[in-house]
Amino acid sequence: MPLPKAELHLHIEGTLEPELAFELAARNGVRLPYADTEELRKAYLFDDLQSFLDLYYSLMAVLRTEEDFEALAEAYLARAAAQGVRHAEIFFDPQAHTARGVPIGTVVEGLGRALDRAESRHGVTTRLILCFLRDKSAESALETLEAARPHLHRIVGVGLDSAEVGHPPAKFREVYAMADSLGLRKVAHAGEEGPPSYITEALDVLGVERVDHGLRALEDPELVARLVRDRVPLTLCPLSNVRLRAVSSLSAHPLRRMMEAGLMCTVNSDDPAYFGGYAGDNFDAVGAALSLSSEELRGLARNSFLAAFLGEGERGRYL
Ligand code: ADE
Ligand code: ZN
Repeated sequence: MPLPKAELHLHIEGTLEPELAFELAARNGVRLPYADTEELRKAYLFDDLQSFLDLYYSLMAVLRTEEDFEALAEAYLARAAAQGVRHAEIFFDPQAHTARGVPIGTVVEGLGRALDRAESRHGVTTRLILCFLRDKSAESALETLEAARPHLHRIVGVGLDSAEVGHPPAKFREVYAMADSLGLRKVAHAGEEGPPSYITEALDVLGVERVDHGLRALEDPELVARLVRDRVPLTLCPLSNVRLRAVSSLSAHPLRRMMEAGLMCTVNSDDPAYFGGYAGDNFDAVGAALSLSSEELRGLARNSFLAAFLGEGERGRYL
């Protein structure tokens, strides 16, 4: 029985496996610049975040209809459930779709079809988190939140992702204030490739409740003390960090040091189709590389439920 856990850092577009990409390409008459799944998989060698994002955005061309988004979410939920995920808070990138002419309603309602039956079919409860692309403008983020308004009953919060360096959190002050006024929860990627000051800014300016990655927090002892004191959850993604070369190897991953510093760490998969593993694979791989005890692994899983956007009544089901 895999360890029950919540997944709090998962981009649904990053769960697009090569087999499904080719199936959807055929269905939608989209030509992919790869002969087959094997050739596509060979392209999964990344130098950094940007080299991954280039492929990640280009493959999204196969996602066009509600049925496509439903199939994407359904495939993720089946895999996640098999690895012990009991609750999933799922990021999606509406601007990557609206820029291609796919309306936000197609994305949200398509994903929603699979999420609506996730508990009965897979035993997984779910939430959706709308992410703004930080390498697009602040105006585009505001337009996206506006376009999402008819769908807000399906969305628990907002996040910030895509190319980090050069796009500090403060650029999105206004849209986060608007999200807050709409009652949405707030998270942001910070300190994946960007400096620790981006983490501080995400807390101070955006008011985020969790930090996605937060890997570089260790470079700033004052920031670490603050994150520990305020029990700010970090959603770490070990296999992603190795594949995107944020760390040199799993055994060099700072997770253990972060846990020993008293940080509230969780383990997640980020973009599992691209980085070699789903949530359970991340637990297994980093656990083995850092010789984490079963008690330490259980602590990480417990943190994931504590950090989830669950109601207090609901949280009791998992702890
Ligand atoms: N979008 C999808 N995966 C991402 C990551 N690891 N960092 C930033 N943006 C992303
Ligand atoms: Zn991410």
